[in-house]
Amino acid sequence: MSETKIILSERELPSHWYNILPDMPSVPAPPLHPGTGKPVGPDDLKAIFPMSLIEQEMSPQREIPIPEEVREILTLWRPSPLFRAKRLEQALKTPARIYYKYEGNSPAGSHKPNTAVPQAYYNKAAGIRRIATETGAGQWGSAMSLACQMFGLECTVYMVKVSYEQKPYRRSMMATWGAEVVASPSTRTNAGRAILAANPNSTGSLGAAISEAVEDAATKPDTNYALGSVLNHVLLHQTVIGLETKAQLEKVGEKADVLIACVGGGSNFGGFTFPFVRDKAHGDKVRLVAVEPKACPTLTRGKFTYDFGDVAKLTPMMLMYTLGHDFMPASIHAGGLRYHGDSPLVSQLVHEGIVEAVAYHQNPVFEAAVTFARHEGIIPAPESSHAIRAAIDEALRAREAAEARVIVFNLSGHGHFDMTAYDNYFNGKLEDFELRQADIDAALKNLPKAGA
Ligand SMILES: Cc1ncc(COP(=O)(O)O)c(C=O)c1O
Repeated sequence: MSETKIILSERELPSHWYNILPDMPSVPAPPLHPGTGKPVGPDDLKAIFPMSLIEQEMSPQREIPIPEEVREILTLWRPSPLFRAKRLEQALKTPARIYYKYEGNSPAGSHKPNTAVPQAYYNKAAGIRRIATETGAGQWGSAMSLACQMFGLECTVYMVKVSYEQKPYRRSMMATWGAEVVASPSTRTNAGRAILAANPNSTGSLGAAISEAVEDAATKPDTNYALGSVLNHVLLHQTVIGLETKAQLEKVGEKADVLIACVGGGSNFGGFTFPFVRDKAHGDKVRLVAVEPKACPTLTRGKFTYDFGDVAKLTPMMLMYTLGHDFMPASIHAGGLRYHGDSPLVSQLVHEGIVEAVAYHQNPVFEAAVTFARHEGIIPAPESSHAIRAAIDEALRAREAAEARVIVFNLSGHGHFDMTAYDNYFNGKLEDFELRQADIDAALKNLPKAGA
């Protein structure tokens, strides 16, 4: 009988992260200073990031060693298992072989601690006392609270208001790990007050919460900012996922035909697929598929241009796919996928045709999530369920073509705090928000000059 779980020993936990920068097909465009429009240098980022992370952001080194203290904490849940979804294959009557890498067994329930832990480590080493950050679905906030607790740092989390209300137990989780949680937009910051003045009923957005956390960090010398996605160093830390997956597939003599992951800011997608991009450059035919919600279709309907990472225009401008920094997505349940922009690295790979992007509505995504849970057991996060939808569709196409394709997807987290969303799906209350082109055009009107 073939194996259901492909397991690596703790000794096989990667010793280095894989940095894709030297292997990018063309040199990535630099981030630009929000005030001057000139390329940002390390000094511009010093107010909110430790130098070690700034160096990783721009490093030309292909392999970057993982500090021993970080590896030790990662072994609490890593290496994570790669599952063969045999029961799902049978249910779909597909000749495809489906595998999924499961990141939901971390203490916070997703892939996010893979970068929260090194970020806390480097901040602590730089003498920082407190971290300010934001969270969409609550996954990143939980991960950062956990990591700060492990390194004795204080943590304030600006949580997008819609999630703050939808997910009270995510708040309790962050409080358990000692963090302070603030609903965003809040009256704590200039950015939050300005948003509330314009719209007192604002349910918030990731872009707005980022503005609040950046402002908090930039105005206090003992506080730094931490971002859970988008930036190069975050995707770098997440490459443990893809490196392990590669080793696990090799263990069972498999080679992926297609790799699939959901994209919010691009960190689980980048971490999962980047170690395979190099193979593609050497002639490998593996397809890489990024999956996003139709209510926030950054890669499939956004513009590839310079834009700010946040509503208040405090962050550097990055060349990426964007729906406009003040785009407010509908309140879909995949809160972690409601970001107007995307990782510049993932964006560039999409722009150059190396990565494909697809978008789905909520209802078909939850249908796939329930199918998966009923056959494989695990109840997936709504974000991860986007990847499941695409993997199931791929397996159904393989059935039509009678091809034994190897489909591998990243199951980025469990959905134990998302049961309200499942209830809404069962009760027919999930809306499939159809975004009008006029709404996208309106949001793109306010792009910065560097992008015009
Ligand atoms: C479970 C899960 N998957 C995916 C994402 C999307 O983030 P990213 O694109 O950075 O992986 C999130 C974000 O919160 C998440 O919680």
